[in-house]
Amino acid sequence: MTAATNPKREQLSSEIAALNMKPLWERVMRLKAGTAAVPAIWRWQQVQPHLMRSAELITTQEAERRVLMLENPALNGSTFATTTLYAGLQIILPGEIARTHRHAPNALRMIVEGEGAYTAVDGERVSMRPGDFVTTPNWAWHDHGNLGSEPVVWLDGLDTAFANLFGAHFREDYPQESQPVSRAEGDAVARYGANLLPVDYRPQGRASPLLSYPYERTREALQRLAKAGEPHASHGYKLRYSNPATGGHAFPTMAVFMQWLPKGYSGHNYRATDGAVFCVVEGHGSVNIGDTRFDFAPHDVFVVPSWEFYQLKAESDCVLFSYTDRAAQEALGFWREECD
Ligand SMILES: [Fe+2]
Repeated sequence: MTAATNPKREQLSSEIAALNMKPLWERVMRLKAGTAAVPAIWRWQQVQPHLMRSAELITTQEAERRVLMLENPALNGSTFATTTLYAGLQIILPGEIARTHRHAPNALRMIVEGEGAYTAVDGERVSMRPGDFVTTPNWAWHDHGNLGSEPVVWLDGLDTAFANLFGAHFREDYPQESQPVSRAEGDAVARYGANLLPVDYRPQGRASPLLSYPYERTREALQRLAKAGEPHASHGYKLRYSNPATGGHAFPTMAVFMQWLPKGYSGHNYRATDGAVFCVVEGHGSVNIGDTRFDFAPHDVFVVPSWEFYQLKAESDCVLFSYTDRAAQEALGFWREECD
């Protein structure tokens, strides 16, 4: 019997409401896995002209970061693609600088289109090429610039929601537009990217100190695996980016992946508690998420919400980048998966 059908219980509910109390028994049955986020896709063909328009309408100086945020249609006003993950497409024109700042949230970049741009992190500039995954660890000074001759677009992924949830969202501007270059490009790769670590290295933070994971190496690894054995029933050939200092995820909150789906691949239904933001690096295919079907093409971004079954199919060889909050869920003991 609910409060609505029991006048005395209803009276209790209304009287304690004035004391900011509510009966748990009226709420607890509603709790279940999954979030309010819904499946969503941003098609490059539609998105790209608007990115170019934004580049005409506002400078990086005015905008600080010229980004079109990818907001989940069910999370209007949140700025987030899933309940825990931010996603945005950032464009920078030749000669532009996106000024130096730092913030509590960790950030990742996945380069979508164009060459010649860099991200500088703590004094080291990292060149960005399509398909590269570039890290910006929490509270690291960072700025972006484009030294090339074409616009460069990348996908930004941040764990902003975690900083917000904990009331720990700090940010700060650097006094100058660009931070001084204090380390040569390739320094982080030399220290952390060759299956070696500096002899007395102790991790400074929780995120990977390796600032760049070039696509060339990732793609080669996936392609070799695709020739060597059978694919996973749901994921094809999927690798996760690791923090070379710990073997764990690249960020304390976000897990980051790249997967290869061979032409003709049809995956089994799969779901997990980590909602995902995917970005298509190469190839054409489709994803069924519950009753929703999206055909995808290169540079499209789509969201698979937490605990929704999804199934991947490849019309041609496909390479999919993705990030989720699995690192945080594993650390806290919440993560689960299920194959249909
Ligand atoms: Fe930033």
